[in-house]
Order: sequence, then structure tokens, then C-alpha cells
Amino acid sequence: MQDLDPQGLLKDVLAQMAHTPDPRLRQVTEAAIRHLHGFAQEVRLTPDEWLAGIAFLTAVGQACTPYRQEFILLSDVLGLSRLVNLMHDAEGREAAGTETSLLGPFFREKAPAFPLGGSIAVHKTGGEEICLFGQVTDAAGRPVPHAWIDIWQTDAEGLYDLQANDASVMDMRGRFQADAEGRYHLRTVKPIGYSIPMDGPVGAFVHRQNRHGKRPAHIHVLVAAEEHRELVTALYFADDPNIDSDTVFGVSASLVVEAAMGVPGTPRPDLPSLRYDFRLSRRAAGETGGRVGADPSQILPAAE
Ligand code: BEZ
Ligand code: FE
Repeated sequence: MQDLDPQGLLKDVLAQMAHTPDPRLRQVTEAAIRHLHGFAQEVRLTPDEWLAGIAFLTAVGQACTPYRQEFILLSDVLGLSRLVNLMHDAEGREAAGTETSLLGPFFREKAPAFPLGGSIAVHKTGGEEICLFGQVTDAAGRPVPHAWIDIWQTDAEGLYDLQANDASVMDMRGRFQADAEGRYHLRTVKPIGYSIPMDGPVGAFVHRQNRHGKRPAHIHVLVAAEEHRELVTALYFADDPNIDSDTVFGVSASLVVEAAMGVPGTPRPDLPSLRYDFRLSRRAAGETGGRVGADPSQILPAAE
């Protein structure tokens, strides 16, 4: 037995974990502990601050429900989700493939399927109707037939269906299957920018940092096709005042769009239209999913 100083303590902690059989778990845990101890020493963490941190994380966990993922929100506002996305892109996205963006906390599995040309605005129809169309191709521009395209967004008041806390209501989301040439078109309403959920511990944290808490208007997109890497991305509207200050850092220049009248090739010349072609990267052998997020009900299922 010897008296511990901070370096000796870190050594002992790592030594106790050194026999973790899973090598990846060992690597991740060791690095996390090293950084955690380094962080506590750098800021000279006090007992009160340590307790405040525990209380904060407890509140984040308690705010999670089958409809709300406060931990994903925390990861988002810290830029961690975007960082994981960026690293995932760097590892397997072909240079010409469409860039990814955040899945966010409002994705849901099993959204209703609509025929091409259908509208995802079923219950809430307020707002300006627009047409989204284009083609799904591979990174070389060759058509990818019959890809499935999931779309989800806020209604014209800036709310997702999940924010009504009623799983039976699905609105402003849908699935479309592209045709044999990879072409798709659908209708929706132009989303508006909105605030991330600010009524919980993460919102309070964002407030204390004097951040506005807003996301620029966007449409989420998930494209899946055989033999291709699943694409999780979003299209951001250029005219949103917060296009350069997204609270969760999801915007990149190649994903910024506008809807306008007279877009060549639109199947709905009567509507403001927006063309976006999604370029899928090849799926590497053995590659599993790359979603930075999940349907909240899969993380915390509803009690039976
Ligand atoms: C969203 O895009 O819906 C979103 C993403 C991250 C945090 C909150 C909302
Ligand atoms: Fe969103």
C-alpha cells in the first residue's frame, strides 16, 4: 500500500482495468479515464462542481423518454455527434458522395410509405407547399434503382410530431421508393427554423452559455439501397438567419439549398421546387450501420 498522488491514482485505475477482455472496450475506457482525470486536474474540479456535474447528468437521464433523447441532445450541442459523423465520413465516404449530417433526436422507424409525388404533410398542412425532387446515384453518378428515401422535418410551426409525446401520431415524415432510374419526387411544406428542446437540462445549459438554441430550417433525409452505405443527411435552407450558427453544428455548404419557381425538370412546375441528387458511397465489406442516433423508443422502450 502506498499513498496516492494524482499520477499514481490514474496508474492504479488503469491497472485495475487492464485485464478487460474486449480489446476495444479496454482501449476506449482507458482513453476516457485518462482524459477524465486530465480534465478534472486541468480545471481543479471542486467537490461542489463534481456534485453539480453528477446532478446535471442525472437530470439528463431523467429527461429521457421513449419520445425524447436528452443524451443525444447533449451530444449534439457539444458537437460530439457532428464529430462522430465527420470521422465516419472520413473513413468510408467516397469523395463525390453526399456529405452526411445529424440524424437528430426525432428520427422514427417505420414512417408511413407514400407513392412518389405524395405529400408528407398529412395532419398539419399549414405552410408553403414545395416539391423536392432529384435522383439517387452512386458516387460516379450512375443511377441507383429503387432506393428507399426517408424524409422527416418540423411542421410549419417548428415542431416535430414526437414533441406531442404521442407515438400514435406520425406526421411530417414518410418513406418514398425511387424508381428504376433512381428518380424521386415528393411534396412537403417548407420547414421553418426552430429551437432545439429548451425546456430540459440541456436547454438550461445552452441558455447559460448565451447561445440562441436554434437550428436553421432543414429537411432530414435517410437514403438506403442495397450494397451502398446508408446516407444520413439533411438539406438546409439558405435563407434561414441562423444558417451559420446552428446550435448542433449540422450544416455544411454542400447541403445548403433553396426552393424556387422555375427549377428545370421539376415534375411540379406549379410549386417552388428544389432539386437534390443524393450520391451514395459504396458499402465497405463488413461495414455495419453508421447512424449517429436512433429512434428514441429503441433506446428507452415504452413500458408495456
Ligand atoms: C434536429 O435536427 O431535429 C435536431 C438535431 C439535434 C438536436 C435537436 C434537434
Ligand atoms: Fe431536425
